[in-house]
Amino acid sequence: MSAPGPSTIITQPPPPSTLRESRIATHSHIKGLGLADDGTAMESSQGFVGQRVAREALGLHLALLKTGKYSGRSLLLVGPPGTGKTALALALSQELGTKVPFCAMVGSEVYSGEVKKTEVLASCFRRAIGLRIKETKEVYEGEVTELTPSEAENPLSGYGKTISHVIVGLKTVKGTKQLRLDPSVYEAIQKERVVIGDVIYIEANTGAVKRVGRSDAYASEYDLEAEEYVPLPKGDVHKRKELVQDVTLHDLDMANARPQGGQDIMSVMGQLIKGGRTEITDKLRREINKVVDRYIEQGVAELIPGVLFIDEVHMLDMECFTYLNRALESPLSPYVVLASNRGLTTIRGTEDIISPHGIPVDLLDRCMIVKTVSYNREEIRRVLEIRIRVENLSVKPEALDKLADEGEKSSLRYALQLLTPASILAKTMGRTEVGLEDVGELGELFLDTKRSAGVLRGMEG
Ligand SMILES: Nc1ncnc2c1ncn2[C@@H]1O[C@H](COP(=O)(O)OP(=O)(O)OP(=O)(O)O)[C@@H](O)[C@H]1O
Ligand SMILES: [Mg+2]
Repeated sequence: MSAPGPSTIITQPPPPSTLRESRIATHSHIKGLGLADDGTAMESSQGFVGQRVAREALGLHLALLKTGKYSGRSLLLVGPPGTGKTALALALSQELGTKVPFCAMVGSEVYSGEVKKTEVLASCFRRAIGLRIKETKEVYEGEVTELTPSEAENPLSGYGKTISHVIVGLKTVKGTKQLRLDPSVYEAIQKERVVIGDVIYIEANTGAVKRVGRSDAYASEYDLEAEEYVPLPKGDVHKRKELVQDVTLHDLDMANARPQGGQDIMSVMGQLIKGGRTEITDKLRREINKVVDRYIEQGVAELIPGVLFIDEVHMLDMECFTYLNRALESPLSPYVVLASNRGLTTIRGTEDIISPHGIPVDLLDRCMIVKTVSYNREEIRRVLEIRIRVENLSVKPEALDKLADEGEKSSLRYALQLLTPASILAKTMGRTEVGLEDVGELGELFLDTKRSAGVLRGMEG
């Protein structure tokens, strides 16, 4: 089916916004919720140790989410600091995979001098709602056999050269075709880093270029590489092809807010762009929603409600909570996961309204609440072992015991934080393994929260 109505969708998948980094981040050992097939939490799996009730509760929500039918629900994670609330939310995002949008934010992000609080929330909401658009498009597809830009004297300055056109040869199982294309297509080809031997397709009406992968005729070049090999396309070079694109509502907002110009701009509703907008307004969002609704009705697009995670939710104020309440009612609402480590506290933006977790009761009422509990020594020890593996350290058993003791006395986070400095200390002393003496010395260098509070109290006295 092709896109309905006068408005057509020109969509290029957005560039991956967050490239995975190889740095060791605080949660890099968490790979998922670590649940068995029957939904029970395994004692230690996928980087997660203990905290079984919360993991199983999230597992149930994951099952709901995967049906894709529920949106506008909310879940609140509460528990003392360092008990894995943020880790749980990230595990959830990993379980969902890359096809379901997941947007993580911290409550305090809404306070910026330039953007309205509700605007920040609105854009996060829309980042968490996905749309899978299926459309049939006229494309030229094949393995690149030739790629020759041809240069001409620059007619404007007489200095330097410009590309006048590019010749692209495409090959399929059935035949080959040579295309003479516009310089703007050449730019798109360069952006996708296409070289000879790649399989690409070029959209006929927009000139957008998409690299599918490397032709498997070139497959045995290396033993190990990150390349994706695809078979030589069947059929003619020039054909109609069903394209599936995953975008978020935020992507559509951005594409239509920017004045049209480049190659990689996605635009719904060509008629909207004429004004050359540069700002996402409520009006623009409403218009996009309207078209999205129509597409869903006509079966061209499918809504994929994702997850919006708001960490440290007690940092939001009354205005934001009111917005949240309303946004959760909207039919285009994601699943919302909130987290807080506060108990009874004043709601921000009010003088004296005290509420559990600093969240107004009407919002609390909508949330399913899951609590996380503090860890015992054995669990802390096991998390430490996992981190030792992830950070590639070696620690003597007695030093590990000592770290676990420290963790039990103050917190899991404190114990985790001591790990890396301890290994550096050991290395400077010319040892390959972290020993008891390194951990002992760190205790003198760094205070945990309780001791530091104690020191300050002493100074006041
Ligand atoms: N059950 C667990 N298994 C493995 N690692 C854990 C577990 N719980 C917490 N961690 C790790 O401990 C550290 C602290 O946890 P996290 O940041 O999730 O705590 P939090 O509950 O969000 O705390 P806060 O309330 O202060 O934000 C992180 O590095 C996290 O990955
Ligand atoms: Mg946290």
